[in-house]
Amino acid sequence: MKEMNKFIETFIQSSFFSFLLIFSLLIHPSTSAITSFLYAGCTQLKFTPGTPYESNVHSVLVSLVNSAATTNFNNFKISLPGSTPNDVVYGLFQCRGDLSNEDCHDCVVSAVSRLGTLCVDTYGGALQLDGCLVRYSNVSFLGVEDKTIVLKNCGPSIGYDSDSLTRRDAVLGYLTAGGQYFRVGGSGNVQGMVQCVQDLSMSECQDCVTEAIGRLKNECGTSRWGDMFLAKCYARYSERGFHSGSGNGDDMEKTLAIIIGLIAGMALIIVLLSAFNKLFEKKGGK
Ligand SMILES: *[C@@H]1O[C@H](CO)[C@@H](O)[C@H](O)[C@H]1NC(C)=O
Repeated sequence: MKEMNKFIETFIQSSFFSFLLIFSLLIHPSTSAITSFLYAGCTQLKFTPGTPYESNVHSVLVSLVNSAATTNFNNFKISLPGSTPNDVVYGLFQCRGDLSNEDCHDCVVSAVSRLGTLCVDTYGGALQLDGCLVRYSNVSFLGVEDKTIVLKNCGPSIGYDSDSLTRRDAVLGYLTAGGQYFRVGGSGNVQGMVQCVQDLSMSECQDCVTEAIGRLKNECGTSRWGDMFLAKCYARYSERGFHSGSGNGDDMEKTLAIIIGLIAGMALIIVLLSAFNKLFEKKGGK
């Protein structure tokens, strides 16, 4: 009898912990989605290794990573002792507005390490993951509005579904209203978000976002999802269940977690029922 109780106790405990694990998977945006790759760009020109410029690039990237532990945006202008004015390096990072410091830091660490393998010894580079942007250059781009398209992605066509398009336009309309560096909106199954790099003024941000949304509507006309990344801001929307890029992995993970959760729950009930059954059988037998 004691053994049985102990077994049930252990089982309930382990089920409880696996339930917690599954639950945390469900409520936290998974790290894999945050670090999904969106785009990267490197300058053609390469610097000579061992020069002051290289030390400055290294210093900027380290500063970005350290800063990302406590804030979701920062920029640096670095010129270590021994540098000439030509060796100055500018850099910034920004995380998606809804990330915790921890997720932001993880994202920037991932972005900087990928930048290191993609843009080897290049004078400048930029990399956008789902959750963060990292950029450095010898040309000062801090505080400069730049509406160059850096990534345009449109999903498959909805076909003719006026409800869906109406909701999409309502979401984009809401996002155009602006007033914030990061804004999310949703209507029915359509969600959208816009974000500006925070080195822009609010009016520059508004201008950039308006441009991104206009282009998104024009170029991704009837798509289920669309991404429009300009150099200093972006606008994205998607129908629930239709993610851009490699974001689908997130949904797969959630579905899997739900299935595992259901199976674990059912197994728990069956084991408990049969345990109680045995318990009462024994009592009845005495
Ligand atoms: C950036 O570096 C490139 C390559 O050395 C150089 O041609 C360019 O003039 C530099 N720009 C600035 C603003 O220093």
